[in-house]
Amino acid sequence: MIIINVNDKSGCYHVETVEKLCFDDGWTAEMLEIELNNSFSHMLVLYDEKQPVGYICYRELFEVAEILRVAVVPAYRGRGFATMLINEMINQLKNAEEIMLEVDVNNVSALGLYKKIGFEPLNIRKNYYSHPDGSYTDALNMRLILKTEYRIIKN
Ligand SMILES: CC(C)(COP(=O)(O)OP(=O)(O)OC[C@H]1O[C@@H](n2cnc3c(N)ncnc32)[C@H](O)[C@@H]1OP(=O)(O)O)[C@@H](O)C(=O)NCCC(=O)NCCS
Repeated sequence: MIIINVNDKSGCYHVETVEKLCFDDGWTAEMLEIELNNSFSHMLVLYDEKQPVGYICYRELFEVAEILRVAVVPAYRGRGFATMLINEMINQLKNAEEIMLEVDVNNVSALGLYKKIGFEPLNIRKNYYSHPDGSYTDALNMRLILKTEYRIIKN
């Protein structure tokens, strides 16, 4: 397994295959390219040999980083790969002192992942996500404060 920084068109097509397997409303390669045009955006892709099997998309804007997406294809779940992607993201952060994210309160696996890593709940956004069946679910904002000693080592 290897994690690679993606910043080109072909990498976006790799991520698109992961998106299709992980989300009903998967981002297309074109959408991913637009995201990467933002100089604060980054994507790390997990490959098994040459096959993309997971990825994380995040932004780092000075002292705050934000996870936009993290996904592992079904056949590779439950083996610590999402944790590995988040840890690699943390390794690559330059100035961030905290990481923010938003998660659907019904997304049990993602909630479990973030809690295990140490993210703490901040507040709820009522009816934030809309679904194809016309229903709505709440979003939970979470934050991970990066340890002071970690920042000292990085700097
Ligand atoms: C959420 C997701 C990324 C987790 O990927 P993963 O590689 O299976 O996660 P890990 O193996 O690193 O799991 C780490 C921890 O998360 C929790 N977790 C993972 N899957 C879980 C599940 N189905 N139910 C409950 N907790 C779960 C567990 O605490 C787990 O630790 P443990 O194995 O020691 O119990 C994956 O399920 C996925 O891609 N889901 C669809 C996309 C998505 O919803 N992404 C998040 C929003 S952008």
